[in-house]
Amino acid sequence: MGFTGFFLIMFLIIHAGINACIFLNDNGETFNTVGHFMSHNWIVRFLEIGLFAGLILHAIQGLILWKQNRAARPVNYYSNKPQKNSTWYSRSMGILGTLILIFLIIHIAQFYVGSRVALYSGDRPHDLYIEMKEVFSEGWVVALYLVSLASLFWHLLHGFQSAFQTFGLNHKKYTPIIKAAGTGYSIIITILFALMPLAIHFKWIN
Ligand code: HEM
Repeated sequence: MGFTGFFLIMFLIIHAGINACIFLNDNGETFNTVGHFMSHNWIVRFLEIGLFAGLILHAIQGLILWKQNRAARPVNYYSNKPQKNSTWYSRSMGILGTLILIFLIIHIAQFYVGSRVALYSGDRPHDLYIEMKEVFSEGWVVALYLVSLASLFWHLLHGFQSAFQTFGLNHKKYTPIIKAAGTGYSIIITILFALMPLAIHFKWIN
């Protein structure tokens, strides 16, 4: 879980970084150029297979872990106060992950499928920025993205430091630094992504 989690953490940095080109306010020109490179470069296309495999594996691993945890304690504790020794979001990783999965199915149907159909049929140059404008013109879509991003935030907040712990990196001195980095990462990624539908919907950018 730690390894696939790390991989997905890296993916989000690249995804948010490329998409942030829309804030250059050049009518999506830079964003479309980088997007075009990413979708036509065979090394990136190859890595994309790894990305989807990583996503599926991460979800399956999560499901197995959840089942193992349940099987390890079939009878509930007589007295259990989980809020005393863990956060609500660390105990809700499965629910948060499921919400993200539902978001991803909608998200890939909205953006990825159309762009790949255009790529393989080659009938027209695909303008991802125009597509973003169309998708985010709907208020309910913007709301759906914001709720999903809130789930992503809590999932990352626990997942980031948990990935390090999986690799045995639990240290008096370094663990607080890792936790702080995880908090910073989760905040920056979430705000950056959230600004995209908001900026387009409310026409803060062209
Ligand atoms: C809210 C802001 C977001 C915007 C505007 C956005 C936009 C896009 C676009 C335009 C594509 C299609 C790229 C292409 O066809 O070449 C895409 C693909 C994808 N997005 Fe997002 N995305 C956002 C957030 C997210 C989040 C939060 C996740 C993960 C939790 C995510 C995961 C993916 C995946 C897995 C793909 C398919 C693989 C790829 O093309 O790289 N996206 N996104």
